[in-house]
Amino acid sequence: MKHFVKILIIALVIFSLFVLPLQAAGTIKIGGIFPITGPVATFGISCANGAKMAVEEANAKGGVLGSKIELIIEDDQYKLEEAANAAKKLIERDKVVAIVGGVTSSEALTIGPIAQSSKVVLVTGTATNPKVTQVGDFIFRVCFLDDFQGEVMANFAYKNLKAKTAAVLTAVTSDYSKGLADAFKKKFAALGGKIVADESYSEGDTDFRAQLTKIKALKPDFVFVPGYYSDVAPILNQARELGITVPFGGGDGWDSPELLKQAAKAAEGCFYSNHFTPDAKDLLVQTFVKNYTKKYGMAPDALAALKYDAMKFLLEGIKKAGSADPVKIKEALASMKTFRGVTGSMTFDANRNPIKSAFILQIKDGKVVYYTTVKP
Ligand code: PHE
Repeated sequence: MKHFVKILIIALVIFSLFVLPLQAAGTIKIGGIFPITGPVATFGISCANGAKMAVEEANAKGGVLGSKIELIIEDDQYKLEEAANAAKKLIERDKVVAIVGGVTSSEALTIGPIAQSSKVVLVTGTATNPKVTQVGDFIFRVCFLDDFQGEVMANFAYKNLKAKTAAVLTAVTSDYSKGLADAFKKKFAALGGKIVADESYSEGDTDFRAQLTKIKALKPDFVFVPGYYSDVAPILNQARELGITVPFGGGDGWDSPELLKQAAKAAEGCFYSNHFTPDAKDLLVQTFVKNYTKKYGMAPDALAALKYDAMKFLLEGIKKAGSADPVKIKEALASMKTFRGVTGSMTFDANRNPIKSAFILQIKDGKVVYYTTVKP
């Protein structure tokens, strides 16, 4: 009997020493929340592709801290209620240690407070509104902010395009659009330019002729449309139909293959700011473009690149933390002051916002081409 107890104790010790930790090291669960269907579906699909690729690359190398990464993806359809439900499901049911997502700023501002109050890390690759990281210290991002992007486009319109007057057409239903419009207007006025029209619409509207007719009458040199491609395409088409010939411009929200499919002619000669160009000569970028294109049959856009970077940044944080405990991951990420991704080299400020360059892209001969780089 004594002998049996001894064996049992030894067996228990062996079990707790080796088997339990092995089980705990099984997988590290990370959630992904993307609008894979709905009005900005190309955003969601690209983000899911980019995030998946980073996870597959890490798992092919044995995972992180000896554990495989399990990525659980939810489609929020660009509906804020769905985004909130997805965040709660991932945190409460799946017990993820971190979420990559919040593709648009409105989604990130919905998911952020849930992640923060649950003490789960949120890394967004794409949400550019300044308020996103102000939600709390569990929220990180690897994209520049709309304050910068708005200034970049105001400078470009005023200095490069020599625009003295501009019109702005804002989506009042989008945190992103409102923030970017404000940043553009402020800088354009500060440079000495005049905002002659300040019009608005709601996302999903289909008829923009009333606003565009007003804009046309005021004869601006430039029209800034800080919206998403699904609205920008009909806006551009209707603007040209109404005979507005001046260049239009926007921000990263223009980045979708759909824009050219729906409005290539109307978009010709327009410019927008973005986070990524597959034309960059950098070897890191070229390898990413090659592998992504091979895997998905199309070149990566900024969203794919940003979510790839967001996931890599998060995985590096987990490695650095030496633990999959969200509080430790948060601390490790906060201590990472630089990161080199396919969207460029970045340094982080005290508020978990990266400082990095923007690219200005031009729509030329029915294609999106690199125009110039603007350093912060
Ligand atoms: N910056 C946008 C937002 O905050 C999202 C976006 C990023 C769209 C990159 C296109 C490309 O809503």
